[in-house]
Amino acid sequence: MRLKSVVTGCITFILIVLYPVCGDVSYSIPEEMKRGSVIGNIAKDIGIDLARLSARKARIDSEDNGLIYCSLNLNTGDLVVQDRIDREGLCGKKASCVLKQELVLENPLELHRISLSIQDINDNSPQFKEGSQKFEISESADKGSRFLLDEALDADIGENGIRGYNIEQNDHFKLNVNSNSGGRKYCELVLERELDREDKNEMMLLLTAVDGGSPQRSGTVVIHVTVLDANDNVPVFSQSVYKASLPENSPQDTLVITVSATDADVGLNGDVTYVFSHVSSENELFSLDPKTGEVKVAAPLDYEKESSYEMQINAKDGLGLASGATIIIEITDVNDNAPVIQVKSLSNLIPENVSPGSEVGIINVQDRDSENNRQVRCSIQQNVPFKLVPSIKNYYSLVTTGQLDRELVSDYNITITATDEGSPPLSSSKTVHLSVADVNDNPPVFEEQSYSAYVSENNKPGSTLCSVTARDPDWRQNGTVIYSLLPGEVNGAPVSSYVSVNGDTGVIHAVRSFDYEQLRSLKVHVMARDNGSPPLSSNVSVSVFVSDVNDNSPQILYPAPEGNSFMTELVPKAAHGGSLVSKVIAVDADSGQNAWLSYHIVQSTDAGLFTIGVHSGEIRTQRDISESDSMKQNLIVAVKDNGQPPLSATCSMNLIISDNLAEVPELKDISSDEKNSKLTSYLIIALVSVSTFFLTFIIIILGVRFCRRRKPRMLFDGAVAIPGAYLPPNYADVDGTGTLRSAYNYDTYLTTGSRTSDFKFVTSYNDNTLPADQTLRKSPSDFADVFGDNDSSPEYQWFFEMVQLLSDWQD
Ligand SMILES: *[C@@H]1O[C@H](CO)[C@@H](O)[C@H](O)[C@H]1NC(C)=O
Ligand SMILES: *[C@@H]1O[C@H](CO)[C@@H](O)[C@H](O)[C@H]1NC(C)=O
Ligand SMILES: *[C@@H]1O[C@H](CO)[C@@H](O)[C@H](O)[C@H]1NC(C)=O
Repeated sequence: MRLKSVVTGCITFILIVLYPVCGDVSYSIPEEMKRGSVIGNIAKDIGIDLARLSARKARIDSEDNGLIYCSLNLNTGDLVVQDRIDREGLCGKKASCVLKQELVLENPLELHRISLSIQDINDNSPQFKEGSQKFEISESADKGSRFLLDEALDADIGENGIRGYNIEQNDHFKLNVNSNSGGRKYCELVLERELDREDKNEMMLLLTAVDGGSPQRSGTVVIHVTVLDANDNVPVFSQSVYKASLPENSPQDTLVITVSATDADVGLNGDVTYVFSHVSSENELFSLDPKTGEVKVAAPLDYEKESSYEMQINAKDGLGLASGATIIIEITDVNDNAPVIQVKSLSNLIPENVSPGSEVGIINVQDRDSENNRQVRCSIQQNVPFKLVPSIKNYYSLVTTGQLDRELVSDYNITITATDEGSPPLSSSKTVHLSVADVNDNPPVFEEQSYSAYVSENNKPGSTLCSVTARDPDWRQNGTVIYSLLPGEVNGAPVSSYVSVNGDTGVIHAVRSFDYEQLRSLKVHVMARDNGSPPLSSNVSVSVFVSDVNDNSPQILYPAPEGNSFMTELVPKAAHGGSLVSKVIAVDADSGQNAWLSYHIVQSTDAGLFTIGVHSGEIRTQRDISESDSMKQNLIVAVKDNGQPPLSATCSMNLIISDNLAEVPELKDISSDEKNSKLTSYLIIALVSVSTFFLTFIIIILGVRFCRRRKPRMLFDGAVAIPGAYLPPNYADVDGTGTLRSAYNYDTYLTTGSRTSDFKFVTSYNDNTLPADQTLRKSPSDFADVFGDNDSSPEYQWFFEMVQLLSDWQD
């Protein structure tokens, strides 16, 4: 194609140029013809014979010794292209480009000028200076902003030069092509739609420049648009509300949650920092890392104070654009509070007689934790008579479960333990002290069932007999024991006239001196009473036994005491050795050893004639009476008791050895004999009357007894067998019947062995016969008391006692 157009062009030029030039030829040829291409037949054009050409050494030369672009074909006369002809290289932008060559002929020298007019062909494409153009455009650039683009260059001229530009289709830019005053075209990028770096941070646009040649040529450049950031984006949190929960015991620096916000901008514009949006006390508990957004525990948390926190946070970029979010932190409960026990009320003095189930205290238990951690179980230790009864809400009643006894346990330390149901559970305990108050529920109790005191008669009034002790385990006055005598009578006199008791100590004193012969024992009742209200009391019997002291000397009943010397005994002359002659009868008001009498002959007319039974008092002949024995015999007999020291009495006994009183004329005092017989008959009369009375009395008593009790008959039958001296005097310690009362009654049973005095000798002594020291101090009123007493039992009590004694002896 190209070649064909060149040829066509040549022909055209050749036709035009042929005629005007005289001697000169002009050719118009397109540039860039191939070497050897024929420009024109110059031989013909200048009219020279071909044969002469070589002869005339025709050649092409250049004007000014320039480059030679074409040569002459001597055979054909054609002018051909010898070197590359580049219009742009030869003429640049000049509109006409003429190459001057010369045809030199010799012989004769002939010079023809050849003008080669070089025509432009579109052999250059538009070209940009660089392969790419860089632009940095802020995303905030306004619509309509213009950016000048570099021009493209095309070495060709005219039509073959730059004709226009166009740009690759894109969303943001369009191309604006202008011409300047010189007609040069330049172009600009016009921002048609705003940029968004966050959408597209760079663009590659291909700009194409085209020329007007045919075929058309083009050149491209890449326009590299970098979108610069503008702070047009706020940081955006990943969530609008952040929720976290953590246990209350989380240590400091525990990570709670990490918030994050992103900013689409870059650099400073996208540099996000986190802050709390406002300062509040809650914020002090948590820290927020401005860079990382980590929320950490900064101070101890307490679920019981605050169970949830809500905080506002902001995220800011470097230029201060900010957005907010909310953090909600739920604190979960941890069992970190032990239950708290409070004693709401407590009666710390509980009467010991409260009934089981009585409420003695109210306990309140609280746990500040929640849910299971606040479920509390409450208990007290075993083996106390109390229990906890759950009441409304978290109240408990402390109630008694059994009977209290202050005397056994007087106070209790109740340990209340409360345990919650957390895991691990926490517990606490509290000890309350309960005292049991006394109630007077124990009477005083004597240490002994009964007390016995032994005292020798003739004691000093006021002497101590014994002491009684009663114990009362109650408290203070409820347990304070006071002793007193219960009223009663002894021998018709109030007991207080015999003994007294010390109210505080329980020591029993004798009020008077006791006389065993009057009072062998007495029984009193002592009461122990406490000081409670009402008081409780108990009583005990105290038996006081009076023991005998040898304070009575033997009383010789027969023979009459010294001085009555007319008492004589007849001893038959024919009496053999061992015959009972007489008997000394003595009694002793004392008892036992003190009344155990022994008889001794202390002086006698004839020492070997009579002997006396040491215990019987029987005087017997030691040998047969002989004629030589003096008729009148006198014995001094001493009667001694066995007391310590012993007491004694003596008597004198006159014995007459004779068969007949008449045989004793020399008896000085016959009247005394008469008196004796008189006395004897008096005695017999007295004996008979007393015996009769006695028998009647016995019959009456037996009758009464039979009627009352049908008790076995009294053992009266053995009475005669008892040696008189062994029989202790029966002392009627209870007032007897009218005639015998208040007297010492001595029943003396004479031995059966006595030939002359074989009778029962009963003498009743009345007051007048008593020794001075044994005189009863009885007032008439005492008698009156007794007589006034219609109870029949004392009337014969003395008698039963005697009978009892006899039977004891027999046993
Ligand atoms: C109770 O506790 C107190 C002091 O803590 C103590 O003195 C007392 O002996 C205790 N009582 C009992 C019955 O344990
Ligand atoms: C003695 O007991 C009574 C009830 O019987 C009681 O009221 C009183 O307080 C008690 N006295 C003392 C000192 O405990
Ligand atoms: C003495 O105690 C007995 C029993 O212990 C009782 O039967 C009697 O009534 C009491 N006597 C007095 C006077 O309290």
